[in-house]
Amino acid sequence: MDRFRRLLGLAVVPTRAKQDPAMNVHCGEFEVNNWLVSEFVLNTLVPIVGIHPFPLNELVLMVAAVCRLKPDRIYEWGTHLGKSARVFYETARHFGLDVEIHSVDLPDHVIHQEHPGHQRGMLVKGLQGVHLHQGDGLSVCLDIQAKAATPKHTLIFIDGDHSYASVRRELAGIMTGIPEAHILLHDTFFQSSESGYNVGPYRAISEAITETDVRYRLLSTQTGLPGMTLLYQLPQTSMTLAGK
Ligand SMILES: C[S@@+](CC[C@H](N)C(=O)[O-])C[C@H]1O[C@@H](n2cnc3c(N)ncnc32)[C@H](O)[C@@H]1O
Repeated sequence: MDRFRRLLGLAVVPTRAKQDPAMNVHCGEFEVNNWLVSEFVLNTLVPIVGIHPFPLNELVLMVAAVCRLKPDRIYEWGTHLGKSARVFYETARHFGLDVEIHSVDLPDHVIHQEHPGHQRGMLVKGLQGVHLHQGDGLSVCLDIQAKAATPKHTLIFIDGDHSYASVRRELAGIMTGIPEAHILLHDTFFQSSESGYNVGPYRAISEAITETDVRYRLLSTQTGLPGMTLLYQLPQTSMTLAGK
């Protein structure tokens, strides 16, 4: 880009050094600079991915999770058109994080009401560091994890089949197979109206966290559908322990 600007005789705009939005990391708490995150979401992310299926508050949580937890590998399912994978890719690129992204969707022959068909992954195809797979999300993720070098920090985004049984199985598989992973889930808002729409993921999370030895901390968007929940683990430092 700079070369073209020089060729056209235009001034080269210096790229601003990207500030790290992660705050107070020495305290072992989850905190980000919301203004830096918002600026990125508005100026860079929304023009690319819009606000469907992830409204602003969910985009902020996705970006905050990547910036604060700094995963070096992200697994996610399902891929669909590739919006969530693109959110992770753009976040890593913008803030200079080195992240390997593995996105999984079901094989073409499997019938699923949301299967994207030939449009699978169209928003991330060919992007460096984004790997597209087909299969069952959990199985592919555990398979890659077993074969590849163990990453320092893993983030897993669950956004496949949103039934209670599927999410329950996926959470149990991760909590046993990759207990150190942080987990982000979509469609987790608890709608208490009679329709009871969308309560599967919420119920699955509530049960799973009480039945595991892994000590997750929980952060959720709670203003309405679809809803996103982050289960994360940060080491307690002596400073936080002393303060409590
Ligand atoms: C709600 S869409 C995912 C939206 C996507 N994350 C995005 O950013 O737009 C659900 C996707 O999950 C896929 N899916 C359902 N069950 C799955 C499974 N067990 N493993 C992998 N993908 C699955 C569906 O084919 C569908 O493409």
